[in-house]
Amino acid sequence: MVSRRSFREHHARGDRRQFLKAATGAAVAVALPRIVPCSVFGASAPSNRINVGLIGCGHQSQRIVPSFLVHDDMQMLAVCDVNRRGDGYYHPDQVLGRETAREWVDQHYAQKTPSGSFKGCAAYADFRELLDRPDVDAVAIVVPDHWHALIAIAAMQAGKDVYCEKPLALTIYEGREMVKAARKCQRVFQTGAQFRSSPAVRRACELVRNGRLGEIRRVYSWVDPNSFESPGLGWQPQPVPDGFDYEFWLGPAPAAPFHRERCFFRWRYILDYSNGQTANFGAHSNDIVQWALGTEHTTPVEFEDNGSEFLPAGSLFTAASRTAFRARYANGIELLCETRSSSGAKFEGTDGRLEITLGGRLATFPENLKDSVIGPDEVHLPVSNPAHTTHVRNDVDADHVRNFLDAVKSRQDPIEPVESGHRTASLCILGNLAQILKRKFAWDPAAERSDDEEVNRLLRRDMRAPWKL
Ligand SMILES: NC(=O)c1ccc[n+]([C@@H]2O[C@H](COP(=O)([O-])OP(=O)(O)OC[C@H]3O[C@@H](n4cnc5c(N)ncnc54)[C@H](O)[C@@H]3O)[C@@H](O)[C@H]2O)c1
Repeated sequence: MVSRRSFREHHARGDRRQFLKAATGAAVAVALPRIVPCSVFGASAPSNRINVGLIGCGHQSQRIVPSFLVHDDMQMLAVCDVNRRGDGYYHPDQVLGRETAREWVDQHYAQKTPSGSFKGCAAYADFRELLDRPDVDAVAIVVPDHWHALIAIAAMQAGKDVYCEKPLALTIYEGREMVKAARKCQRVFQTGAQFRSSPAVRRACELVRNGRLGEIRRVYSWVDPNSFESPGLGWQPQPVPDGFDYEFWLGPAPAAPFHRERCFFRWRYILDYSNGQTANFGAHSNDIVQWALGTEHTTPVEFEDNGSEFLPAGSLFTAASRTAFRARYANGIELLCETRSSSGAKFEGTDGRLEITLGGRLATFPENLKDSVIGPDEVHLPVSNPAHTTHVRNDVDADHVRNFLDAVKSRQDPIEPVESGHRTASLCILGNLAQILKRKFAWDPAAERSDDEEVNRLLRRDMRAPWKL
């Protein structure tokens, strides 16, 4: 049952409606060009155009696809999903999968084409076929977290630049392997934690970095609660829907009987595929903390459970139903990460306090601190899209993608490079381990090892054959 709908999820539904509206107005395609005419791209010369493939056509693709398509210097050539087309995602009536995404893309270009028809976007069930295409320059990886590392590393080895959804990886080992692959293959890598591209978040981080709160003593990061209740004890396996390749969906994860609420959207509440809301929303709120504190190349050095809760053994959802962990940075700053009605972060310093939500609400105490001007010689954080050329419904997402496309062209690091995404994900993963083990442990961010051997064993997970890293 839906218990609440978050700000972000609400917006995603709006995107879908736009798509459906576009799709119902579609003219019947007669001539079916595969290459979009140059006129569609305005001033963008074909040589400047970035060809993109989308891997994962579920809930979040409803935000990612329009955030790419708004940019005229890219073309979405192909989409991929192990689900042909089916319902049961966040909203029961949502019909998503590769055929739906393919229609969105074709419809987008059809509307811009003089003939009003276009059917040039390919749809694949196997990401390896998409990666085999030499004309694909970059991929957007929008699959559940247990697949991020395998697909991202295969993509980089195939020479593609990568936009990969947050949280970067399922384990510390996988995240570190992604960092190594990006360096070795010299690929541009953007972590899809789009709030780095939010002007309000940047402003909040600049105020903290430039000492407007004095010396920071304590930081809070908040994560949303689960949006759905778990099927309880005694839940029964269900038949696999037509067109959904469940074996492929499981991939490297342990074999398990099919249940709708295991796969579509709800996988984020199950430890085999994720680190729960601790990492799902923590990848945003803890990323703000890391950016504000300037700790993007490290993590806290100590983690401890702080009263997290889990559902009874036998429930389908196995990740913490209430996040609560405490961490400590090497300089003594304390971080308290916990479940709250909506995600964000709060910073407490010797001279003031600051609160920022993912929705962009910035509050300070004293209030006038908010208006403080950052001087030319102070720290200015990067701006994703200085020209602000993306006037779409959700500018933060589109600006984050713009930043990626610009980096693909300039070959410079984007606003959230792989190492930074890895460190934020590590913070969340380690917090989750503290919650699972219910004890305190020390962490060496340079060696990426703990003083607790059980923690060290959990830094990597076995992959089910034939998948391996
Ligand atoms: N940045 C954000 O604000 C934000 C918001 C929501 C989700 N996300 C992230 O997006 C990713 C996807 O989440 P979602 O909510 O869309 O999940 P989802 O379950 O709704 O969709 C995932 C899709 O990936 C497909 N898939 C699974 N394995 C695949 C594979 N090997 N190859 C191709 N397709 C595969 C599934 O069939 C499904 O259609 C996650 O990493 C999640 O954390 C980010």
